[in-house]
Amino acid sequence: MACSTFLKLNAPSSSWISGHHSVNLSPGSAARFPTRRLSVIRAGSYTDELIKTAKSIASPGRGILAIDESNATCGKRLASIGLDNTETNRQAYRQLLLTTPGLGEYISGSILFEETLYQSTTDGKTFVDCLRDENIVPGIKVDKGLVPLPGSNDESWCQGLDGLASRSAEYYKQGARFAKWRTVVSIPCGPSALAVKEAAWGLARYAAISQDNGLVPIVEPEILLDGDHPIERTLEVAEKVWAEVFYYLAENNVTFEGILLKPSMVTPGAEHKEKASPDTIANYTLTMLRRRVPPAVPGIMFLSGGQSEVEATLNLNAMNQSPNPWHVSFSYARALQNTVLKKWQGRPENVQAAQIALLVRAKANSLANLGKYSAEGESEEAKKGMFVKGYTY
Ligand code: 13P
Repeated sequence: MACSTFLKLNAPSSSWISGHHSVNLSPGSAARFPTRRLSVIRAGSYTDELIKTAKSIASPGRGILAIDESNATCGKRLASIGLDNTETNRQAYRQLLLTTPGLGEYISGSILFEETLYQSTTDGKTFVDCLRDENIVPGIKVDKGLVPLPGSNDESWCQGLDGLASRSAEYYKQGARFAKWRTVVSIPCGPSALAVKEAAWGLARYAAISQDNGLVPIVEPEILLDGDHPIERTLEVAEKVWAEVFYYLAENNVTFEGILLKPSMVTPGAEHKEKASPDTIANYTLTMLRRRVPPAVPGIMFLSGGQSEVEATLNLNAMNQSPNPWHVSFSYARALQNTVLKKWQGRPENVQAAQIALLVRAKANSLANLGKYSAEGESEEAKKGMFVKGYTY
């Protein structure tokens, strides 16, 4: 077959690996494989900008503040402090978070829900401008949520590819520079080969479409904490999932230098009889990442997945005790917001105390990114776990 005479790197299309798009291998290699050629992928119009954006989000001592809860999930957060799920309350909560003075010292990006991307403070300053003033890159959740996956073992798949290109172009115009798509994999449900393939393919299509529209895609196949399995089983599933994700990212010609990952940490299932120490979690998680993630990827920004604020920070700190090939940091929602909400209670007079609580968590995780965090003096509230079975976003 004609294409067997070419060495495929990143391009699945044989039309891209012949003629003037190809380069010869070095003379030595050419002697061994006389007719083989390396493929050259055409750079997209946003490639340089994507690489710059990803690098700036993955900058030392900083991570992502995730506040992209859908209206339904934000409603649950507000209900936990006795507030109604109205647009006014959601706006007030997001205003508290996004106007925290000095936030940009520890936070490099913030993922917003669509409603928030188009909102402003009560004084009329857009939230996008609030972020830009702190040198924080605005991001946007672009998936349309999880629905049952027919033919699977009670698993789900993530919707949102229809119309994604035009939505992404609009989000870019509004100031977003990165995107997030969260799909999930359940260990107790299998996972089935079908669910893993669907998750990986969906992430790869989303990533390619995002890059084509100037948005750095955060690639997030969340391996849920649910289950009583040991840590070894999580490692096995995580390796399988990330192998497929990278296979399809390459098939879709995604530029690895212009993506960010949002993995779950490799831990035992939430109902497993033994808890793992931060050192064990760090060891398993880094082993998995080293086996699966090319160093071309600039940043690994973990989700917290229901761990307590302190656990999530300690685990991140343990992963940064020696140099890694990528920036290893955070993109937490629950593990940055829990204490903040409790301090706020929906009262204007508590806004400042709540903002200080946010800075405390952001700084703790910034130190953890630098491998310099100590849990001494942390509050009891920050040590409480937040795991909820079947959590949606
Ligand atoms: P958690 O840190 O609460 O798990 O958030 C996950 C997420 O995807 C937020 O964008």
